[in-house]
Amino acid sequence: MGESRVALVTGCSSGIGQDLAGRLVQRGYEVVATARRVEDLSGLQAGTKLSLDVTDDASVGAAVEAALAAHGRIDVLVNNAGFSLPGAIEDRPEAIRAMFETNLFGALRLIRAVSPTMRRQGQGRIVNIGSISGRWSLALWGGYSATKAALASITYAARGELGPFGIKVVLVEPGPIRTGFHPKTELAFEGLAENMSSPYADLYRRGRALNAALHGKDPGPEAVSRVVLRAIEARRPALHYFAGLSPGIRLVLAAPVGLREAFFEAALARVKG
Ligand SMILES: NC(=O)c1ccc[n+]([C@@H]2O[C@H](COP(=O)([O-])OP(=O)(O)OC[C@H]3O[C@@H](n4cnc5c(N)ncnc54)[C@H](OP(=O)(O)O)[C@@H]3O)[C@@H](O)[C@H]2O)c1
Repeated sequence: MGESRVALVTGCSSGIGQDLAGRLVQRGYEVVATARRVEDLSGLQAGTKLSLDVTDDASVGAAVEAALAAHGRIDVLVNNAGFSLPGAIEDRPEAIRAMFETNLFGALRLIRAVSPTMRRQGQGRIVNIGSISGRWSLALWGGYSATKAALASITYAARGELGPFGIKVVLVEPGPIRTGFHPKTELAFEGLAENMSSPYADLYRRGRALNAALHGKDPGPEAVSRVVLRAIEARRPALHYFAGLSPGIRLVLAAPVGLREAFFEAALARVKG
């Protein structure tokens, strides 16, 4: 399997999307690498590079049309584009909305845009990049966790709906991974910590310190790419895969919800902001 399959990946400007697009090219896929700014794809070998903002219907429509014009088919869609903005629920309603617009509705836009083609082909594979954050929700991370929990729910429903047409839908849930993701979160924290008038200012300082302390030894994006490739190439892909989980994260995942929350609350309380 592999030769001549056409794979469209969102969010290839950095991190997991960039790594995955490169590996797909190496494995002989015809890769449609996409990013909001097409110039951010200059380091990639992919044959087709397109600008695609997943929050914009017209941009999604134009990118899928261009991919079909160039390759005539789309066998694989990887919904990878996503970001997180930390913040207290009370403080950041606009951030929560923005994350949903990309992390959930962006993926839905792409699924809707490629499904008619995959149905006509009688086959297709859709991989949604969720997060283990979708399985728990911590102070300051509620919005991001909610988007990934919602993406998991949608993935399971889409699998049932699209399966009869030969389209297999898969959820890949990474643990913490060393990409542009955490530095961007760090930047977002900088902005929050300056908001000294917020009743959550102290929590923001602690959250930022914890974010910096936790991510020194995260695995690189290849840990996720390997799992996505497995999900794409398996004849009968599982509904769900974890990716890049450290032994510590595996323990946390296995812990009862109450214990897990208590652990993170204690870590947040201990850290000096
Ligand atoms: N790194 C982790 O610890 C981790 C853990 C679990 C899950 N994930 C998930 O993995 C996926 C990839 O993240 P990453 O770790 O590789 O982080 P990253 O290096 O920050 O990459 C995120 C990508 O998403 C793109 N993106 C954001 N908004 C977009 C939009 N509206 N339209 C199109 N592209 C957009 C970014 O493009 P720009 O350069 O234009 O912003 C970038 O290419 C995300 O869904 C993330 O939630 C990451």
